[in-house]
Formats: sequence, C-alpha cells, structure tokens
Amino acid sequence: CGGGPLAETVHDEVARACARYGGGVRHSAPGTTGDRSPCAGVGGDADVPGGAEEGPFDLVLALTGAEPVPDAVRRLRTKWPAHGGDDRPTGEEGFVVARHDGVTVVLADEPAGLLYGLFHLVRLGERAFGAARPRELHRPATRRRMLDHWDNVAVHPVMGQVERGYAGGSIFWRDGALTGDLARVGAYARLLAACGVNAVTVNNVNVHAAEARLLTDRLGDVAAIADRLRPYGVRVHLSAGFASPVVLGGLPTADPLDHDVRTWWARAAERAYQAIPDLGGFVVKADSEGQPGPFAYGRSHADGANTLADALAPFGGVVHWRAFVYDHRQDWRDRSTDRARAARDHFAPLDGLFRDNVILQVKHGPMDFQPREPVSPLLAAMPRTRLAVEVQVTQEYTGQQRHVCYLAPMWSEVLAFRPWGTAGPAVANIVTGATADDAPEPPDEEPQDGEGRDRWAAREGGGLVGVSNVGDDHFWTGHPLAQANLYAFGRLAWAPWADPVAILDEWIDLTFAPSKTGETGDAGDVGETGEAARLRRTLHAIMDGSWRTYERYAAPLGVGFMVRPGHHYGPDVDGYEYTPWGTYHFADRDGVGVDRTRATGTGFTGQFPRPWSQVYESAERCPDELLLFFHHVPYGHVLHDGSTVIQHIYDTHFAGVEQVAEARSLWAGLAGAGSVPAGLHARVRELFDEQLRCAEEWRDQINAYFFRKSGVPDARGRRIH
Ligand code: GCU
Repeated sequence: CGGGPLAETVHDEVARACARYGGGVRHSAPGTTGDRSPCAGVGGDADVPGGAEEGPFDLVLALTGAEPVPDAVRRLRTKWPAHGGDDRPTGEEGFVVARHDGVTVVLADEPAGLLYGLFHLVRLGERAFGAARPRELHRPATRRRMLDHWDNVAVHPVMGQVERGYAGGSIFWRDGALTGDLARVGAYARLLAACGVNAVTVNNVNVHAAEARLLTDRLGDVAAIADRLRPYGVRVHLSAGFASPVVLGGLPTADPLDHDVRTWWARAAERAYQAIPDLGGFVVKADSEGQPGPFAYGRSHADGANTLADALAPFGGVVHWRAFVYDHRQDWRDRSTDRARAARDHFAPLDGLFRDNVILQVKHGPMDFQPREPVSPLLAAMPRTRLAVEVQVTQEYTGQQRHVCYLAPMWSEVLAFRPWGTAGPAVANIVTGATADDAPEPPDEEPQDGEGRDRWAAREGGGLVGVSNVGDDHFWTGHPLAQANLYAFGRLAWAPWADPVAILDEWIDLTFAPSKTGETGDAGDVGETGEAARLRRTLHAIMDGSWRTYERYAAPLGVGFMVRPGHHYGPDVDGYEYTPWGTYHFADRDGVGVDRTRATGTGFTGQFPRPWSQVYESAERCPDELLLFFHHVPYGHVLHDGSTVIQHIYDTHFAGVEQVAEARSLWAGLAGAGSVPAGLHARVRELFDEQLRCAEEWRDQINAYFFRKSGVPDARGRRIH
C-alpha cells in the first residue's frame, strides 16, 4: 500500500478478521515489491504462499497504482466494460468493489479508500463473497463528515462533563484531564471510520476556561487524541473561543481587524499545526448565548471568521463558523423580534464575503433542533458561501437517549428539502456541492419551482455536521438503539440520498448480525432464519417510525419548546413562555401558535424563496406538521385531514403513548432471542419503562393544558387528566 498509518490499519483489520475467521493474509509491504505494491490479499486457508505475487486469494485489496498489478485486478479490469463501469478515479476516500472469478477486489487510489472499502465489505458480509458482483464505485458526497463533541475538559457546574450528553462521561476528558483510557479513543476512531465519519471536534462549542487552553499549553492533550484517531482517517478539530487573544494571549482586545489580534491567531495556528500537523481546523460559536464575538467590536461575522481562516490557511485548515446567532434576551411582549429570523438576518447579507476556507455551519432548522421545524431558510440564502448543515445526533430535544427516536428519517427530510421547489437543488446538493442531477426525482406533490434558484450554482459544500451522542457508556450511546443514529449520521454524511430504512437494515446487520444465524443469500433478508427475520421485523417496527411517535406525544404541530427549562427533558408547556429565550407558543383561550406571516406576524415566511414563502404564509396551504410554527390559529382550525387542531392534539397524544406501549411490548418479546445479548435487552427494557412513563406525562400535561385553555372536550370522550 505504500507506507502510512492508514495502510497499516487496513492490513491489521484484515489480519484481525482472518485470525478470527480462519484464513491467512499477505501484505506486500513497501520495499518488497515496490512502494505501490498490492496491499493485502486474503487466502482461503492460512497457508498463503509467501513468495508468489499472489496466493489463492478470496479477497484482494489494492491501490489502483499498485505495481506489479495483482492478477485479480488485471483480470477484473478486462471485464469492466462488460459491467458498464468506467475508470474514474476513486479520489481520496472512494473505492471500487467487484467480485469476479471467485475473487473479491477492492481498489482505491488512496489508503483511506481501501479502509472505507474494507468497511463496505463488512457491511456486505458474506454477500461480498457469493455470486459475481459488478464493479461499483463508491465515493463520499462530501469531504468533511464531522461530529462535534460538546465535551468539557473540566466538569462544568451546570452542564457536567458533556453538555447535552446522555451517554455517560466524555470519551476524551475526565475531571479536567485527558482521559486515562486512550484505547477507547482508538476504538472510537474505528467505529467512526466504519460509519464514514472523518472528523471530530474534541471540545464543546461553549469554550470555558480549561477548554480554551487546548489551543495553547494543552495542545499536547489534543495531539495525543489525534494520534489515536489518525490511523482510521479521522482528523481532530478544536472549538476555539473568539476571545482567546484576550483570555489566553493577554491582549486588550479580540477585535478581528486588530493587527496584534491577527498576529496572535496566526501564531496560535502555527503552534497548533506544529503539534498536530493534520489538524482539521477550528469551530467557533460567536455572539451566541453569551459567547463573545465580533459584534462587541462593531465587526461582522465575516470579519471574525476570516481572521481565523487567514490564520489557518497556510496549513490547509478550515473554520467552521456557526450561524447559531440570536438574541437570547428577548421580551415576550416584543412581537416583532423572532428568533427564527435571526440566522438569516445576520448572515445572508454577508454572502460572498467569507474566505474559501470558511464553512458556515447552519442548524437544520431556524430555531434549535426541535423534533419538528421547517428547514432553515439560510441554507437557500448564501449561494456564494460554503454551507454545512448541522444536525443533533445527541437527543437533547428528542428523548435524551432514554427514548427510542431514530432520527435518520428527519435528517433525510431535511436533506431532500428543495428550498426553490421541484426544479431547484435540495439541501443535500447545497451542502455537498453536487448538482441537482444527482438527486432522485422529487415527489409530484411538491410545489412548483420558484424564484432565485438560478443564483445557486454547484460549489464545494461544507457537508454534514452532527453533535455527537457518544460517551463512555458501555453501549457508547446510553440507549443501545441510539447507536443507529450515530451510524445513520455517518452514512448520510457519506451518501445523503441513502434510504433511512436501508441504513437501519445495515445497522441491524452490523450490530446484531441476524443474517449470520441463518443461510445468507444475495439480498439482505434472503435465507434468514425465522428468528433473524423476526428480530429485523421487530426492530423496524420499533424504530422506523419512532421519530414520528416522539413528535406525536411531544409539542404539537411544529410549535416546539414545551420542554422543562434548563435540561430540556419532559414536558412543561409554559416553562419557557415568559423567559427571554424567544421560544414561545402564545397559547391562550382562543388559539395557539406563532404568527410568522408577512401579513400579520414576524415576516419569517418571507425568508424563504417562492414557492415556500407562499405555502408557509397561507394557513390553508401550510403543511399540518408545521402549522403552529407559522400560524396562530383557533383551536377549531381544520387541518388537511379534516380534524381540528384541538382534536389533533388529543388524538396524537393518545396515539403516541399507545405506540410507545406497543414498541415496549415488541421489545419485551425479544427476551432470550439469541442475537440480542441479555445485558443489552435489559438496558433497553428499562429505558422503555421510562419512555412510557414520560410519554404518558407528555400526553397528560399537553392534553390537560389545552383542554383547560380551550374548554373543548375530546370528541372521543377519553379521560383527560
Ligand atoms: C442549544 C443547547 C445548548 C448549546 C446550543 C448550541 O441551545 O441547549 O446547550 O450550547 O444549542 O448549539 O450552541
């Protein structure tokens, strides 16, 4: 493979698999047959001839430029035209996989591609070694597939070790120091590579005192983490505090246009790259929820971001600059200020002003990771800026990894949303930079194309960023089934059009290996034993619709934020109603919802291009699930399905609880199933008890609140507590 840690990793992975399942491996190392020699061949038995160019291999992993060309690759290449494949380069991380003449071949231009190809084989399982497979080219849709850890180095008095963490402590930090368990960081890197993630930020976007120093005297800690992640192609990024020149450098100002400040950042970047030559760059939360930022100096966010970008540019680094900027000191009486408007209002005028190595990181919705929000209109407002879309893998507002909530269907909806209607690009295109031609046909019922879409031209996007849901918990994610969200995040970052149900199948196979318990065939479920098929069916029944189930028993019709203040778990309808956070529902005896229309409200609907600006403006055309996000309506308002708003609230809240109860009993039915370890079964069973309790609490609080406000009884006469 040539040298390098990634090549070693591929070799070690193959050797490990061979040791486990029998068979032998031969690695042509540099120096024996040339620097670009075949990488690894796997023999059908342990006795692989050492001297020959190739043994009787079942599997050959090779670099495309390998010399000498392995026989299996040469043979395969002669067949490519017959398979309809072309000879496009695989790029830095892509790979080709094919099976011919009884040999499975993975080819890649670079070692990272071999690694991803290997994990692709793991996904295929025995199907990779069955019938002949035509040549398939796999390449990630985007170069950066990043998880942000909101991990604190020192335990924060309110937020603890991991802000919004529901899976135990940090895998990087403990009590102010680097964790003593770096082996686990290595295992994490492997897990990430298997999902396709290639970047992590190792500290919280809210940068407190101890964390700030990661940029200076604690760089060694970061380097130690980077050393463990590097063999799996994962690069480290750092959250940097905007005020670092003051806090760490002792300068009187952090003004991004000040000469000394710019010099300070340049030196900081230089030092960081001395310690970590492949550092990815910085992530910055500025002028947001109390974090310092350029506004204090009368500068724009482009000024702020560009100063850091200039410091990183000589080293190839990028700045992920977050667009989560809003006034969190709002008065509920002020009906013109609207938090939903803030990101677009602040950033759209800056389009075209950011350096090429700035990626603007935009939360998928205009508010804050609620179970249901419209897609952020900022994603359609910056055609000359590299945009990344940020999703929350950690389940802050979706059950905190105590509830089953498979989020891939939500993320897929976001990625498939076409801000300009059917003829325009989707969010997936915007953040990957791929042209709209790559996208599947949009559904017919979507509104027709609108204004402004011509301004959008394919350019390199910033990819997908997720807030990590991983901690030092035995199951990595607290709720074992929340692992599916981690996996799906990586898969969607790699292939944004992938089907969430198919992704879940992959995860089921990899996690529980149900197909291994029966005879395997070419299609996933062919040949499964009855028990394996039942496990797969049951997990789909529990998980496919779990996000919509959560939505049913939580805040209704897109209104959001009826959660307990501070920790955000469980219901509190008025918990935020009179606070400064700008998260209101405005329920009174006549109606509920936030008027964000241009006609009578905050005008937020006008931030969307046509057709959505018109669709959302109209209470009649607005999709039901977002009605209360955009409109204040009477309880008797009739939805598209013929139900009234108040009856919808009652019905969905009763239904949501019933669905949780059903999922819980489905899970109980898996007790003793061979492929579900007892400890895992018990953990999920306990969590289902809590989910059911909490869903009932949501149902009762929401239903009672709106019954009491509206005075309208349930048409079906159910008891409202
Ligand atoms: C939410 C979350 C905070 C986090 C913030 C962010 O508001 O509750 O803990 O800091 O998002 O994304 O910056």
